[in-house]
Amino acid sequence: MVEPDQPSTARMIDFWLGGEHHFPVDVAAARAFEQAYGPCVPIFRELRAFLGRAVRAIAARGVDGFLVFGAGVPTVGNVHEIAPEATVLYTEVDPVTIRLGQRILAGSDRAGYAYGDATDIGTIDPAQLHRFVPGWGRRPVGVVFLGLAAFLDDETLTRTLDELYTAAAPGSCLAVDFDTEELAGNPEALAMMGPAFRMRSPAAFRPLLGRWTPTEDGVVAVTHWRSEVTPPAVPDAFHGGVAVRGDD
Ligand SMILES: C[S@@+](CC[C@H](N)C(=O)[O-])C[C@H]1O[C@@H](n2cnc3c(N)ncnc32)[C@H](O)[C@@H]1O
Repeated sequence: MVEPDQPSTARMIDFWLGGEHHFPVDVAAARAFEQAYGPCVPIFRELRAFLGRAVRAIAARGVDGFLVFGAGVPTVGNVHEIAPEATVLYTEVDPVTIRLGQRILAGSDRAGYAYGDATDIGTIDPAQLHRFVPGWGRRPVGVVFLGLAAFLDDETLTRTLDELYTAAAPGSCLAVDFDTEELAGNPEALAMMGPAFRMRSPAAFRPLLGRWTPTEDGVVAVTHWRSEVTPPAVPDAFHGGVAVRGDD
């Protein structure tokens, strides 16, 4: 595989999670970010543990098909590893990460990886969508939308989540997160996130969910969401939750 000359946040996360699918350019960017901000390993471990709890909670409702947006690297406790009975379609816009994901999942008949712009569900190949998320639009599914809200403005995020609500069948569940204002006091680290990066307060994020209704667990610090142990003391960088599509 040709080595990319630009880092990706998804592959930096793979590095922080102890995965094996990143390149020197990603490691250099991850180290530079930590130099400015501080240790990231505990924060991303907690975020991935939240993904695991959210996917298990959705699967426990009887959901056995997942559509993942902004998927990044499909390893280290990712959706198909957490829900081994389910089928999963991972989607992304970054071509290098898509090729990486397709190589990792080659040979799997339960999980696939395809191009998909989260802001336009029509960009996903319908054949892949219906193969890995059977009954899309007719049966409840899990929609995973993690690490994405931070890169979408309020208007785009609201429209995107509303279109997903309309497209998904009643009973579908959305796992979603947003970046808190943790980086506000660190201009150097904030600048590294790029001009599109958006931090939000809980009060600013909640209305953007529109018709999606959070479960009784709420949208809270990811370390606290259905935490099975005393939550570890890590910086409060991400809030998240699971929201359900009603019958309307
Ligand atoms: C911060 S990473 C998160 C990766 C993964 N969800 C995780 O939690 O490890 C964000 C990913 O979203 C992808 N991305 C950005 N904008 C996107 C869009 N409009 N549609 C789909 N993916 C997008 C990026 O290429 C990047 O891989």
